[in-house]
Amino acid sequence: MNPAQPSPPAHPAQAAKSVQPAPSAPAPSAPAPCAPEDVRRVACVGAGVIGGGWVAHFLARGYDVTAWDPAADAEQKLRRLVAAAWPALEQIGLAEGASPDRLTVTATLEEAVSDAQFVQESAPEKLELKRDLLARLDAAAPEGVVIASSTSGYPMSEMQTLAAGAGRLVVGHPFNPPYLIPLVEVVGGERTAPSAVGWASRFYEVAGKSVITMEREVPGFIANRLQEALWREALHMVANGEATVAEIDASITEGPGLRWACMGPMLTFALAGGEGGMAHMLDHFGPSLKAPWTRLEAPELDRELYDAVVRGCEEAAAGRTIAELVAERDRGVIDVLRATGRLADRRTEGAAK
Ligand SMILES: NC(=O)c1ccc[n+]([C@@H]2O[C@H](COP(=O)([O-])OP(=O)(O)OC[C@H]3O[C@@H](n4cnc5c(N)ncnc54)[C@H](O)[C@@H]3O)[C@@H](O)[C@H]2O)c1
Repeated sequence: MNPAQPSPPAHPAQAAKSVQPAPSAPAPSAPAPCAPEDVRRVACVGAGVIGGGWVAHFLARGYDVTAWDPAADAEQKLRRLVAAAWPALEQIGLAEGASPDRLTVTATLEEAVSDAQFVQESAPEKLELKRDLLARLDAAAPEGVVIASSTSGYPMSEMQTLAAGAGRLVVGHPFNPPYLIPLVEVVGGERTAPSAVGWASRFYEVAGKSVITMEREVPGFIANRLQEALWREALHMVANGEATVAEIDASITEGPGLRWACMGPMLTFALAGGEGGMAHMLDHFGPSLKAPWTRLEAPELDRELYDAVVRGCEEAAAGRTIAELVAERDRGVIDVLRATGRLADRRTEGAAK
């Protein structure tokens, strides 16, 4: 075992019903064998795009990592992925003692998890496969160790049906690449112990991630549900010949995407209401929610929704004035432009005109 401690986060920043009925007694307890802060050894099962990205992330944060993947060329691919990611990880800042040499690729799933203090599953998005695999991981991992699935959308209630120790199974949904994008969405299923959800959320924070802990299962969680809505609109436009793929991509990277990198869609729209904030925005544009700008059905903008959105924006502002938020957003947009090399280009182009 390597004694090096994982460092604190290096990255920036910091409901629906479930489908499967609980087969037996709900929520067995999931005693954690060690505190999230004391984890040193992590197992990653499934080592493709996401599993490999998790491996790179955990290595960079100073953990010992074991990995298992049934593909014949998996180790080669995984080591290539880690080597390719490492320069970026060095730039962000490695934890003390972090090294790609602390990766061990095992011949069996059982070996990979036998000594693990946390398990991240990143196998293909197939429900039956996930059910079987999570049951196998539950049988092989030390008692009480939390097992997280990277699933992009399956509710844990649907995936934990075959596991005897379902209480320790959670969703830990990352974004690609997990070694650069901070967000992880954490949520349990009907049979998950609340303590396992809390443990996982804390562990991811210690491991340098930005965590949203969801109270309820929602297909697609939060971010994929949002991405999916945008994606559906984009496909409508392509299918109808209304916009090209390039136009759609440019409309985001040259438009709202720049703002979204530093401020989410709610506060961004609150600023579109000027000094009146979200309330003015809703008064002004609320009626047009019913205009056929979108191919998705709009919700009824009733009083309850109106108040919830206005209140949510006020809470998110956390005492900052509209002017302060504008300044913060602008600083963030400029930082993104500079970071992506577009600020210099614009200056040159501007001067040449
Ligand atoms: N690609 C993304 O952007 C993204 C983002 C977030 C979450 N996810 C989720 O991460 C998971 C993995 O997706 P991916 O994009 O890395 O897929 P991938 O195809 O790149 O990798 C899957 C890996 O799992 C291995 N595998 C196959 N059968 C297995 C088994 N029985 N047990 C263990 N491993 C097995 C494959 O050999 C492969 O290396 C999925 O649940 C997916 O929904 C993907």
